[in-house]
Amino acid sequence: MDALLINGPAKLKGEVKVAGSKNTALPLLFCALLFDEEVSYENVPRLWDIETTLGLLQSMGTESSWDKQAGTVRIFPRVRRREAPYEWVKKMRAGILALGPLLAKYGEAKVSLPGGCAIGARPVNFHLEALSKMGAEIRVEEGYIHARVVDRLRGTTYRFPQISVTGTENVLIAASFAQGSTTIENAAREPEVVALGKQLAAWGVPITGLGTSTIAVEGGRLKLPCAPVVIPPDRIEAGTWISAALATRSELTLTHTDATEMEAVLKVFRSMGAGIEVSADAKRIHVLPVEQYRAIDIETAPYPGFATDMQAQLLVNLCLANGKSRVKETIFENRFMHVAELRRLGAKIAIEGNNAIVEGPSRLLAAPMMATDLRASASLVIAGLCAHGTTKVSRIYHLDRGYQRLDEKLRHLGADVTRISE
Ligand code: EPZ
Repeated sequence: MDALLINGPAKLKGEVKVAGSKNTALPLLFCALLFDEEVSYENVPRLWDIETTLGLLQSMGTESSWDKQAGTVRIFPRVRRREAPYEWVKKMRAGILALGPLLAKYGEAKVSLPGGCAIGARPVNFHLEALSKMGAEIRVEEGYIHARVVDRLRGTTYRFPQISVTGTENVLIAASFAQGSTTIENAAREPEVVALGKQLAAWGVPITGLGTSTIAVEGGRLKLPCAPVVIPPDRIEAGTWISAALATRSELTLTHTDATEMEAVLKVFRSMGAGIEVSADAKRIHVLPVEQYRAIDIETAPYPGFATDMQAQLLVNLCLANGKSRVKETIFENRFMHVAELRRLGAKIAIEGNNAIVEGPSRLLAAPMMATDLRASASLVIAGLCAHGTTKVSRIYHLDRGYQRLDEKLRHLGADVTRISE
């Protein structure tokens, strides 16, 4: 297993290109299951989760090619097995996104239950409830979801009891192939959902309400035009770079961004005192650090609120701010696994229920740390960049799942980071 050795404190300098969005690419790759012809993609990030998705799709019989340098993927969807087996879904919970397209297109699907993970129990009951309401017969047996529908899925109205990103995506995909119209209430408004909806619309599906809590979909008109699917920039990677620049008090320019999707994150960092300039076209973000940061009090929330996927990274920034900060995690019940690791560097963070109380500023000193999940790994790397001495971050396969060559990019920006296997 790989680990990173980070010699800190580091200064970053220069420009960093933000890769395509992981959480947008995943549902769009699963959409290939809806077609009989080749589907092609551009700006696909080079990540383990993409490798896993293509492996899972291949296990169903599809063929694919991936030019990792060019960032292009081609999928030839000749599905023979309508199944997402446990071996794949256990590697990546987003395998649940196979359920909507398989069921919609083939009338049946067998998909492993994803199970819990380091950040929480993460059930998929809303996905199942919504698809049942669309006419599917669903039973869960021996760890698998078995779903069938006689004829086709039917449009319906489904109100999510709680906002769910992949839940909204599964229903959106299923609804685009179903008979009649579907209304999704209390839908996720995340940019990843909007990008998926816009692509379905480009494939001929009439959709209204994207980016609002009520999405209406007219099913049955899906057609594949020849233009490739272009994956938009990763807002969480961009946010992670801002966090790293501010934590190391470095001046950094991010390119290939879409700052219009990052208002909550930019607002939080600005309220801490950071200087952040955005170009007129929102594609470049220039980060200007300051010597003193202010403590803040915030909570994570579904979009347009502050993303839970940025909470771990923000905690490192708050360790360096003056005074007491509070971060309430409202999305996942167990998303503070990084706190115990950060404490090993000298961070003063207490957990009270779903609140992290941070006392700053702390002088961080290097220590070995263990990554527990994707965003937690990013926060440990940022902490390692600020800490004095050599920090080892083990189990960085979590990082490789969601950040395109983070260590290479860091070296390019001047940080002393080495990948080792242990
Ligand atoms: C997506 O996960 C993202 N994953 C996550 O990113 C992200 O943290 C999360 O949304 C929240 O923004 C992908 O897009 C592939 P949810 P998802 O369904 O869809 C509860 C990362 O680091 N819930 O929006 O699985 C659930 O337990 C990852 O890139 C149910 O109770 O999250 C949670 O408390 C990690 N029943 C809340 O809703 C359900 O059927 C929101 O989860 C579905 C969800």
